Amino acid sequence: MSVPTRDHRATLGDLLRRVRQGGRLAMLALYDATFAHLAEEAGVDAVLVGDSLAQTVQGRESTLGVELDAILYHLACVARGCRRPFLLADLPFGSFESSPAAAFAAASRLLAAGAQMVKIEGGAPWVVETVRFLVERHVPVCGHLGLTPQAILELGGYRVQGRAPEEARRLVAAARDLVAAGIRMLVLECVPDDLAAHLTRSLEGVAVIGIGAGPATHGQVLVAYDALGLTPPPRPRFVRDFLEGVGDARLALGRFVRAVAEGSFPTVGESYGPSGLDDLGA
Ligand code: KIV
Repeated sequence: MSVPTRDHRATLGDLLRRVRQGGRLAMLALYDATFAHLAEEAGVDAVLVGDSLAQTVQGRESTLGVELDAILYHLACVARGCRRPFLLADLPFGSFESSPAAAFAAASRLLAAGAQMVKIEGGAPWVVETVRFLVERHVPVCGHLGLTPQAILELGGYRVQGRAPEEARRLVAAARDLVAAGIRMLVLECVPDDLAAHLTRSLEGVAVIGIGAGPATHGQVLVAYDALGLTPPPRPRFVRDFLEGVGDARLALGRFVRAVAEGSFPTVGESYGPSGLDDLGA
């Protein structure tokens, strides 16, 4: 087994092997070299340069205004700040929707800047087709289902997704289509615990990473500012302040990594509970 060392950036193969062996992955969304270094020292497995920088760094109300150049800038900062964690970057709103070729152009810039995988939101047929186009051209892709903030104007609010039977079945079908198209990682955001557990059990060859999706996924992701309690309230219920009672950011992020590894995060009160649906479209 290849064990990532300080000088070896973790590969997708490393992460998928960990998952196959029953390990849990800790991922943080962050945007600069200092946080990247702290996360690395804390033992984080993967770092996402997410379009959540719209809110946390740029002070916007939604992620819709983030441009590809902003993701590229922050990705370069993060890549310089850490050497070991696996690096993912978001395809921001407006960079991939017009055509698969546009998505490839954006993705190739992210890979050139150091990303090892790009994340794309949604599961509509055209997104699935775009994922296939990217994967066929050697771009590793992470899907993102459930609450997809780039669709906020359509969703009408930041709330749990997949509670209604039809919604849950659509989500399961979209996850399967994305896997068939070649994603190797899937972020599930704000979905009922049983739906996330069902997908984690049934999807093959994919690392399922939850945020507000209960404890059963292969890993957890939090925005680093949230994990340190820096984000002003109201905070989503899936956020835990790991700095509380510790007073040291490095130790706090280490607490996050350990809590994910031992399965003590999230607890019942930090997720959205079961959907109550018997048939999740298995
Ligand atoms: O942009 C982001 O930070 C994300 C995570 C919350 C998953 O997409």
